[in-house]
Amino acid sequence: MDYLGSTRKSSCAGKIIASALCITVCITILEQRQSPSYSNLSSFSQHELGVTHVLVTGGAGYIGSHAALRLLKDSYRVTIVDNLSRGNLGAVKVLQDLFPEPGRLQFIYADLGDAKAVSKIFAENAFDAVMHFASVAYVGESTTEPLRYYHNITSNTLVVLEAMAAHKVKTLIYSSTCATYGEPVKMPITEKTPQLPINPYGKAKKMAEDIIIDFSKTTDMAVMILRYFNVIGSDPEGGLGEAPQPELREHGRISGACFDAARGIIPGLKVKGTDYKTADGTCVRDYIDVTDLVDAHVKALAHAKPRKVGIYNVGTGKGRSVKEFVEACKKATGVEIKVEYLGRRPGDYAEVFCDPSKVKQELNWTAQCTNLKKSLQIAWKWQKSHLNGYSHS
Ligand SMILES: NC(=O)c1ccc[n+]([C@@H]2O[C@H](COP(=O)([O-])OP(=O)(O)OC[C@H]3O[C@@H](n4cnc5c(N)ncnc54)[C@H](O)[C@@H]3O)[C@@H](O)[C@H]2O)c1
Repeated sequence: MDYLGSTRKSSCAGKIIASALCITVCITILEQRQSPSYSNLSSFSQHELGVTHVLVTGGAGYIGSHAALRLLKDSYRVTIVDNLSRGNLGAVKVLQDLFPEPGRLQFIYADLGDAKAVSKIFAENAFDAVMHFASVAYVGESTTEPLRYYHNITSNTLVVLEAMAAHKVKTLIYSSTCATYGEPVKMPITEKTPQLPINPYGKAKKMAEDIIIDFSKTTDMAVMILRYFNVIGSDPEGGLGEAPQPELREHGRISGACFDAARGIIPGLKVKGTDYKTADGTCVRDYIDVTDLVDAHVKALAHAKPRKVGIYNVGTGKGRSVKEFVEACKKATGVEIKVEYLGRRPGDYAEVFCDPSKVKQELNWTAQCTNLKKSLQIAWKWQKSHLNGYSHS
């Protein structure tokens, strides 16, 4: 047994070293493609009339990569900054392959907690706007690792804001969350619903929002805070998908768990909580397709105005229960997923759905692509063709 254990350990260590080497080589290749010896350095370091250069933090992650794709399609210049702690270099590679032209996309490997590195990035690049997606983002994990969440979300947002102030970058689109509302008694949630978060994730995001709002009062910054509801789906053209690292699966989101169950990676689906005060006892959420969500970002960027803070709920306004979600997932995958019903997960809310009328009125945005079964079908197609996420298609 001991021998087998140590063999497994050394083969596991070997795999970790090989993966680390592989990531280092890929980062070097990607960075070299944007290195000073290439003619495109000046494109990123200088403002250009008619070109909006957007810093996308967390652009190797699920939502950030989809946002980068949309921005690139809409002719924005994009710089992705990501420490790859949770994102995928493969997603960046997909974007690089789609937009290889000089001056379109660059990737910078950096940790937003490193204020010196962030300041250097701002000094060397001429950003017109920042979309700040980078964050750890699991409610359950935040209850067991609160300091990590306050550090990564609240403190890193401060670092980004300080760099924006020092380098006169005046437009910020901030990724916030419905978790900042906590468990309101009244549905639907409007932007005026009191924010009383009940877990460190929601609290850290609320603190970051407060810091942004306070700071914006002292400057001529244009700020848009988007509070997302539950994001699902993936790129309809099949280039990008959602690929959290395997060790995060246990904290994961419901769509990932459904797909894992459909693929047989996990024996079935664990529905946590059946005694909530909802129609069928399971949690109710407002699911929003990532394509719609990134559309809201582009509209927010277009409507951002100096000395104004826009705060918007981004959801469909329609709540769907976990049971409904599971049924849609069974239909989308064609797999009769086994479902196990368990007790509640700490930090979860019973029912959350928004009133999206403000975002409709002011940004002319409504969800166009969100359809539980269809959104899941698109995401499932990507999952099936990327059985190991971005590493091996
Ligand atoms: N997915 C959802 O349902 C949802 C809902 C509401 C809000 N949000 C928010 O949307 C944003 C994006 O979420 P996501 O689902 O794409 O998460 P994700 O984990 O897929 O992406 C986050 C990215 O940020 C990067 N990152 C994290 N910490 C960093 C740091 N210190 N420096 C540099 N990069 C760092 C990660 O490597 C990753 O690529 C987050 O701010 C999250 O709070 C997500």
